Amino acid sequence: MQRTQIVAGNWKMNKTAPEATALATQICQYIDQHPLATHQRVVLCPPNLYIASLQAVVADTPNTYLGAQNCHTHTLGAYTGEVSAAMVQSIGASYVIVGHSERREYHHETNALLRQKVDAVVEQQLQLIFCCGESLSQRDNNTHEAWLAQQLHESLFHLNAQQMQQVIIAYEPIWAIGTGKTATPEQAQQTHAYLRHLFAQQYGNHTAQQTPLLYGGSCNASNAASLLSQPDIDGGLIGGAALKTADFAAIIAAMKP
Ligand code: PGA
Repeated sequence: MQRTQIVAGNWKMNKTAPEATALATQICQYIDQHPLATHQRVVLCPPNLYIASLQAVVADTPNTYLGAQNCHTHTLGAYTGEVSAAMVQSIGASYVIVGHSERREYHHETNALLRQKVDAVVEQQLQLIFCCGESLSQRDNNTHEAWLAQQLHESLFHLNAQQMQQVIIAYEPIWAIGTGKTATPEQAQQTHAYLRHLFAQQYGNHTAQQTPLLYGGSCNASNAASLLSQPDIDGGLIGGAALKTADFAAIIAAMKP
Protein backbone atom coordinates (compact mmCIF):
# COMPACT_ATOMS: atom_id res chain seq x y z
CA MET A 1 0.00 0.00 0.00
CA GLN A 2 1.28 3.44 -0.92
CA ARG A 3 1.52 5.71 2.12
CA THR A 4 -0.41 8.97 1.92
CA GLN A 5 1.78 11.68 0.38
CA ILE A 6 1.14 15.28 1.43
CA VAL A 7 2.39 18.66 0.33
CA ALA A 8 1.26 21.33 2.80
CA GLY A 9 1.82 25.06 2.35
CA ASN A 10 2.43 27.02 5.53
CA TRP A 11 1.73 30.58 4.42
CA LYS A 12 2.71 31.98 7.86
CA MET A 13 1.77 35.68 8.21
CA ASN A 14 1.73 36.46 4.50
CA LYS A 15 -0.77 37.65 1.86
CA THR A 16 -3.68 40.08 1.93
CA ALA A 17 -7.17 38.62 1.43
CA PRO A 18 -7.25 39.23 -2.35
CA GLU A 19 -3.72 37.84 -2.70
CA ALA A 20 -4.68 34.76 -0.69
CA THR A 21 -7.71 34.12 -2.89
CA ALA A 22 -5.62 34.55 -6.03
CA LEU A 23 -2.92 32.15 -4.80
CA ALA A 24 -5.38 29.47 -3.71
CA THR A 25 -7.29 29.83 -6.98
CA GLN A 26 -4.14 29.41 -9.06
CA ILE A 27 -3.01 26.39 -7.04
CA CYS A 28 -6.42 24.76 -7.44
CA GLN A 29 -6.33 25.47 -11.18
CA TYR A 30 -2.98 23.71 -11.37
CA ILE A 31 -4.33 20.71 -9.43
CA ASP A 32 -7.47 20.59 -11.57
CA GLN A 33 -5.22 20.38 -14.64
CA HIS A 34 -2.86 17.86 -12.99
CA PRO A 35 -5.16 15.77 -10.78
CA LEU A 36 -3.74 14.29 -7.60
CA ALA A 37 -3.51 10.52 -7.24
CA THR A 38 -5.80 8.92 -4.66
CA HIS A 39 -2.95 8.70 -2.12
CA GLN A 40 -1.86 12.35 -2.62
CA ARG A 41 -3.10 15.41 -0.68
CA VAL A 42 -2.45 19.14 -0.87
CA VAL A 43 -3.12 21.25 2.23
CA LEU A 44 -3.15 25.05 2.20
CA CYS A 45 -2.58 26.69 5.60
CA PRO A 46 -3.33 30.40 5.19
CA PRO A 47 -3.72 32.86 8.04
CA ASN A 48 -6.83 31.80 9.98
CA LEU A 49 -8.96 34.73 8.89
CA TYR A 50 -8.89 33.58 5.23
CA ILE A 51 -9.94 29.97 5.85
CA ALA A 52 -13.67 30.68 5.53
CA SER A 53 -13.43 32.46 2.20
CA LEU A 54 -10.92 29.98 0.76
CA GLN A 55 -13.24 27.09 1.59
CA ALA A 56 -15.27 27.92 -1.54
CA VAL A 57 -12.07 28.05 -3.61
CA VAL A 58 -10.80 24.58 -2.68
CA ALA A 59 -14.19 22.87 -2.33
CA ASP A 60 -14.34 21.48 -5.88
CA THR A 61 -10.69 20.42 -6.13
CA PRO A 62 -10.34 16.78 -5.05
CA ASN A 63 -7.83 15.89 -2.31
CA THR A 64 -7.16 19.55 -1.58
CA TYR A 65 -7.82 20.84 1.93
CA LEU A 66 -7.35 23.80 4.24
CA GLY A 67 -5.46 23.85 7.50
CA ALA A 68 -4.81 26.25 10.36
CA GLN A 69 -1.29 27.15 11.50
CA ASN A 70 -2.11 26.93 15.20
CA CYS A 71 -4.99 26.61 17.65
CA HIS A 72 -5.62 27.11 21.34
CA THR A 73 -5.67 24.31 23.90
CA HIS A 74 -9.29 25.02 24.88
CA THR A 75 -12.49 24.80 22.85
CA LEU A 76 -13.94 28.11 24.01
CA GLY A 77 -13.67 30.61 26.80
CA ALA A 78 -12.10 33.85 27.97
CA TYR A 79 -8.87 33.68 25.96
CA THR A 80 -8.66 37.05 24.21
CA GLY A 81 -7.20 36.86 20.73
CA GLU A 82 -7.19 33.07 20.53
CA VAL A 83 -8.90 30.64 18.15
CA SER A 84 -9.86 27.03 18.93
CA ALA A 85 -9.66 23.85 16.88
CA ALA A 86 -13.47 23.70 16.88
CA MET A 87 -13.61 27.20 15.42
CA VAL A 88 -11.22 26.59 12.55
CA GLN A 89 -13.04 23.36 11.82
CA SER A 90 -16.37 25.19 11.73
CA ILE A 91 -15.10 27.43 8.91
CA GLY A 92 -13.63 24.66 6.80
CA ALA A 93 -10.22 23.61 8.10
CA SER A 94 -9.46 19.89 8.08
CA TYR A 95 -5.88 20.10 9.37
CA VAL A 96 -4.06 22.01 12.12
CA ILE A 97 -0.30 22.55 12.40
CA VAL A 98 0.93 22.21 15.99
CA GLY A 99 4.43 22.72 17.34
CA HIS A 100 6.00 24.81 14.60
CA SER A 101 9.43 26.04 15.73
CA GLU A 102 8.35 29.66 15.29
CA ARG A 103 5.51 29.09 17.77
CA ARG A 104 7.90 27.29 20.12
CA GLU A 105 10.37 30.16 19.92
CA TYR A 106 8.26 33.33 19.70
CA HIS A 107 5.31 32.14 21.79
CA HIS A 108 7.29 29.99 24.21
CA GLU A 109 5.25 26.88 23.44
CA THR A 110 6.62 24.00 25.49
CA ASN A 111 6.28 20.26 24.93
CA ALA A 112 3.73 20.14 27.78
CA LEU A 113 1.59 22.89 26.24
CA LEU A 114 1.84 21.26 22.81
CA ARG A 115 0.56 18.02 24.30
CA GLN A 116 -2.64 19.87 25.20
CA LYS A 117 -2.91 21.34 21.70
CA VAL A 118 -2.38 17.87 20.23
CA ASP A 119 -5.32 16.64 22.31
CA ALA A 120 -7.48 19.60 21.27
CA VAL A 121 -6.90 18.85 17.57
CA VAL A 122 -7.36 15.09 17.87
CA GLU A 123 -10.54 15.41 19.95
CA GLN A 124 -11.96 17.64 17.24
CA GLN A 125 -11.40 14.83 14.70
CA LEU A 126 -9.05 17.06 12.69
CA GLN A 127 -5.82 15.93 11.05
CA LEU A 128 -2.80 16.99 13.08
CA ILE A 129 0.46 18.13 11.47
CA PHE A 130 2.89 17.88 14.36
CA CYS A 131 6.23 19.64 13.87
CA CYS A 132 9.49 18.56 15.45
CA GLY A 133 13.07 19.49 14.72
CA GLU A 134 16.45 20.27 16.21
CA SER A 135 18.67 23.35 16.36
CA LEU A 136 21.99 23.61 14.57
CA SER A 137 23.97 23.09 17.78
CA GLN A 138 21.97 19.93 18.55
CA ARG A 139 22.71 18.65 15.04
CA ASP A 140 26.38 19.57 15.41
CA ASN A 141 26.86 17.81 18.74
CA ASN A 142 24.79 14.85 17.62
CA THR A 143 22.04 15.16 20.22
CA HIS A 144 19.32 15.71 17.61
CA GLU A 145 17.89 12.20 17.78
CA ALA A 146 17.49 12.33 21.55
CA TRP A 147 15.84 15.74 21.21
CA LEU A 148 13.37 14.54 18.57
CA ALA A 149 12.51 11.52 20.70
CA GLN A 150 11.86 13.81 23.67
CA GLN A 151 9.61 16.10 21.62
CA LEU A 152 7.53 13.14 20.45
CA HIS A 153 7.39 11.43 23.85
CA GLU A 154 6.38 14.57 25.73
CA SER A 155 3.79 15.92 23.28
CA LEU A 156 2.50 13.09 21.12
CA PHE A 157 3.14 9.54 22.26
CA HIS A 158 0.36 9.57 24.85
CA LEU A 159 -2.06 9.15 21.93
CA ASN A 160 -3.23 5.63 21.13
CA ALA A 161 -2.69 3.83 17.83
CA GLN A 162 -6.22 4.65 16.69
CA GLN A 163 -5.67 8.37 17.28
CA MET A 164 -2.33 8.14 15.45
CA GLN A 165 -4.28 7.72 12.23
CA GLN A 166 -5.01 11.45 12.48
CA VAL A 167 -1.33 12.34 12.85
CA ILE A 168 1.17 13.57 10.28
CA ILE A 169 4.71 14.46 11.34
CA ALA A 170 6.64 17.36 9.88
CA TYR A 171 10.37 17.05 10.54
CA GLU A 172 11.70 20.58 10.31
CA PRO A 173 15.32 21.14 11.32
CA ILE A 174 15.29 24.69 12.72
CA TRP A 175 18.55 25.51 10.96
CA ALA A 176 16.88 24.87 7.61
CA ILE A 177 13.70 26.92 8.09
CA GLY A 178 13.69 30.04 5.95
CA THR A 179 17.48 29.97 5.73
CA GLY A 180 17.96 28.56 2.26
CA LYS A 181 20.03 25.85 3.95
CA THR A 182 18.28 22.55 3.25
CA ALA A 183 19.03 19.22 4.87
CA THR A 184 20.60 16.99 2.24
CA PRO A 185 18.29 14.23 1.00
CA GLU A 186 20.54 11.76 2.83
CA GLN A 187 20.40 13.69 6.12
CA ALA A 188 16.63 14.07 5.87
CA GLN A 189 16.10 10.41 4.92
CA GLN A 190 18.29 9.25 7.81
CA THR A 191 16.31 11.33 10.30
CA HIS A 192 12.97 10.24 8.84
CA ALA A 193 14.04 6.61 9.13
CA TYR A 194 14.90 7.29 12.77
CA LEU A 195 11.48 8.88 13.37
CA ARG A 196 9.77 5.89 11.77
CA HIS A 197 11.80 3.64 14.04
CA LEU A 198 10.51 5.61 17.06
CA PHE A 199 6.95 5.11 15.84
CA ALA A 200 7.57 1.39 15.36
CA GLN A 201 8.93 1.11 18.92
CA GLN A 202 5.94 2.95 20.34
CA TYR A 203 3.07 1.70 18.18
CA GLY A 204 4.36 -1.23 16.15
CA ASN A 205 5.31 -1.54 12.54
CA HIS A 206 1.84 -1.12 11.05
CA THR A 207 1.32 2.37 12.50
CA ALA A 208 4.92 3.31 11.73
CA GLN A 209 4.48 2.34 8.10
CA GLN A 210 1.22 4.27 7.78
CA THR A 211 2.23 7.58 9.39
CA PRO A 212 3.15 10.25 6.83
CA LEU A 213 6.48 11.94 7.64
CA LEU A 214 6.91 15.29 5.89
CA TYR A 215 10.15 17.21 5.52
CA GLY A 216 10.21 21.01 6.01
CA GLY A 217 12.96 23.60 5.80
CA SER A 218 13.91 25.46 2.62
CA CYS A 219 12.26 22.83 0.45
CA ASN A 220 11.78 24.42 -2.95
CA ALA A 221 11.05 23.76 -6.61
CA SER A 222 14.65 22.72 -7.31
CA ASN A 223 15.33 20.37 -4.40
CA ALA A 224 11.84 18.89 -3.84
CA ALA A 225 12.25 15.94 -6.19
CA SER A 226 15.46 14.71 -4.54
CA LEU A 227 13.94 15.07 -1.05
CA LEU A 228 10.47 13.69 -1.76
CA SER A 229 11.81 10.67 -3.63
CA GLN A 230 13.53 9.38 -0.47
CA PRO A 231 11.79 6.25 0.83
CA ASP A 232 10.78 7.67 4.23
CA ILE A 233 9.93 11.21 3.10
CA ASP A 234 6.21 11.37 2.38
CA GLY A 235 5.91 14.99 1.31
CA GLY A 236 6.75 18.43 2.60
CA LEU A 237 5.68 21.30 4.82
CA ILE A 238 6.56 24.28 2.68
CA GLY A 239 7.01 27.89 3.82
CA GLY A 240 8.53 30.41 1.41
CA ALA A 241 8.05 28.30 -1.70
CA ALA A 242 4.33 27.88 -0.90
CA LEU A 243 3.74 31.58 -1.62
CA LYS A 244 4.35 31.32 -5.38
CA THR A 245 2.11 29.16 -7.53
CA ALA A 246 4.81 27.92 -9.90
CA ASP A 247 7.16 26.91 -7.09
CA PHE A 248 4.44 25.22 -5.07
CA ALA A 249 3.15 23.43 -8.18
CA ALA A 250 6.63 22.05 -8.84
CA ILE A 251 6.74 20.68 -5.30
CA ILE A 252 3.28 19.12 -5.69
CA ALA A 253 4.54 17.49 -8.89
CA ALA A 254 7.48 16.02 -6.95
CA MET A 255 5.25 13.86 -4.69
CA LYS A 256 5.68 10.12 -5.17
CA PRO A 257 3.26 8.95 -7.88
P1 PGA B 1 10.56 27.35 4.67
O1 PGA B 1 9.60 27.14 5.94
O2 PGA B 1 10.09 26.41 3.60
O3 PGA B 1 10.40 28.79 4.29
O4 PGA B 1 11.96 27.04 5.13
C1 PGA B 1 9.14 25.85 6.27
C2 PGA B 1 8.28 25.95 7.50
O5 PGA B 1 8.59 26.76 8.38
O6 PGA B 1 7.26 25.23 7.63
